Amino acid sequence: MSIHINAEQGEIAEIVLLPGDPLRAKFIAETFLEDVKQYNDVRNMLGFTGTYKGVRVSVQGTGMGVPSISIYATELMKDYGCKKLIRVGTAGALKRDVKVRDVVLAQGATTDSKMNEIQFGGLDFAPIADFDLLLKAYNAGKEAGLNLRVGNVYTADLFYGEKNPNEMLADYGVLAVEMEAAALYTLAAKYDAQALAILTISDHLITGEVTTSEERQLTFKDMMVVALEAAIQ
Ligand code: HPA
Repeated sequence: MSIHINAEQGEIAEIVLLPGDPLRAKFIAETFLEDVKQYNDVRNMLGFTGTYKGVRVSVQGTGMGVPSISIYATELMKDYGCKKLIRVGTAGALKRDVKVRDVVLAQGATTDSKMNEIQFGGLDFAPIADFDLLLKAYNAGKEAGLNLRVGNVYTADLFYGEKNPNEMLADYGVLAVEMEAAALYTLAAKYDAQALAILTISDHLITGEVTTSEERQLTFKDMMVVALEAAIQ
């Protein structure tokens, strides 16, 4: 057991999908996995293990933002030996040519989070995705005919920021904003694990374009296929 996860050793798979919402974790487990067993209920941050095409896969809610995902990602890798962590979530588009319903594979994560400043004392560590996972996700997404985008994302600490660098980051080619990838990538580097963030675009922060809930459901399914196929290959 770790502080925030009350699973026994061996109950969590080496492959873990990480949605922010714990009820999303439940939905993913029930919809995409077989032989599902819940392993965590601490703080209702639900976690489940099952199989996908015969391969053991876990799904763990992370909560929102860098501090919350840092707790779960650290305990999964440090205390349970998890080796492949894939965040599945949503992001707001920044670059103009990114469209709602596109699926973004976060190759790198720019951030305003204090986390790396605290950790590295002002040195700019570059949080990057695992290349092998990225390549497998890219190939799976292309095969499924998705509109894939690969590039930099912005991991923001504030959802409701009064000042934000969105326009500037869009000018620098940053595809989208979310709130967790930089932390996941940095911690995976420390624990010698593979990490990737796969994000569906729910809205466009510059053009104002939005998705309907039906569209979000469809894209969510697309993203899950990419995540699961990349994970088990
Ligand atoms: N900001 C941060 N994270 C997000 C957003 C946003 O606008 N949309 C979806 N995830």
